Amino acid sequence: MNHCTLIAPAKINLYLEIIGDRPDGFHELAMVMQSITLADRIDLQLNDTDTIRVRCDNGDVPADNTNLAYRAAALMADRFADRFADRGAVDITIDKRIPVAAGLAGGSSNAAAVLVGIDLLWDLGLTRSELQELGEVLGSDIPFCISGGTALVTGRGETISPLPALGGLYVVLGKYRSLQVSTPWAYKTYRQQFGSQYVSDAAGLEERRHRVHSGPMVAAILHQNGSQIGKLLHNDLQKVVLPAHPPVAKLRDALAASGGLGAMMSGSGPSVFALCESEAQAQDIYAKVRSDFPDPDLELWVTQLNPNGIEVD
Ligand code: C5P
Repeated sequence: MNHCTLIAPAKINLYLEIIGDRPDGFHELAMVMQSITLADRIDLQLNDTDTIRVRCDNGDVPADNTNLAYRAAALMADRFADRFADRGAVDITIDKRIPVAAGLAGGSSNAAAVLVGIDLLWDLGLTRSELQELGEVLGSDIPFCISGGTALVTGRGETISPLPALGGLYVVLGKYRSLQVSTPWAYKTYRQQFGSQYVSDAAGLEERRHRVHSGPMVAAILHQNGSQIGKLLHNDLQKVVLPAHPPVAKLRDALAASGGLGAMMSGSGPSVFALCESEAQAQDIYAKVRSDFPDPDLELWVTQLNPNGIEVD
């Protein structure tokens, strides 16, 4: 095998709670993450050289060693040097459909696909949790992107408790094409404004983690109760990102008032979404938002919840 193609889905956050600071400088989080069917395609080809190459049709995506997909391949080459010497490097071609710097984990999902694909091309036989440990080195969202579906995600992003797949729900997703939000900026600003409320002691952190595990959002998912999930959508980062970007706040409000199950910003934004009980409802909301927001800079998608993470095509 010298070639493979992988599907790398985007994610949204149904829930994102910032609990406190971690000793490693990151934030302690409690999230419910959900894969969606909006996905990039990642093509990997062994190239018989020792040079990793990245190609992407989207000018916003770097094709050099700053690309997370490149860094994933470099990490594999470093950790499995014998196999790298034997099988050679990869050409990585990214067919980009997930908007960049949008709070949808597009870059993380690409890196997750590269880890999964190189494991196959080099016959490494790594387990999912071994791949997730490698992913964690590169970025907090990568472990989730590997397994995908619906999951409660805690710690920095590395502790994943799978939840049952949510059947039948749709999402209308919106993002202003020209607007990107830096994730470090969002967390730094949140810390400046709300850091005094952070939980810092070990018992307090454990209590907050436990509260989310046995809390209403997880219960609503276990009961497949879409309307309850819609009411419980939550994202602490909205408190800093929406005031800084009034058009995004306006779009979120319009999605919330559109008759769907609920609306929220995903991750550190600026994409916002409405959760919908059916494809018909999603198409109605899409049409209404499209006509109320004729701005050509606004990109909209109708997409579905996805029970899968990285898949081989
Ligand atoms: O891990 P990743 O590189 O995706 O994180 C991007 C940024 O988001 C980090 O540099 C940090 O500022 C912030 N972050 C955080 N706590 C987390 C995850 C991310 O503070 N658990």
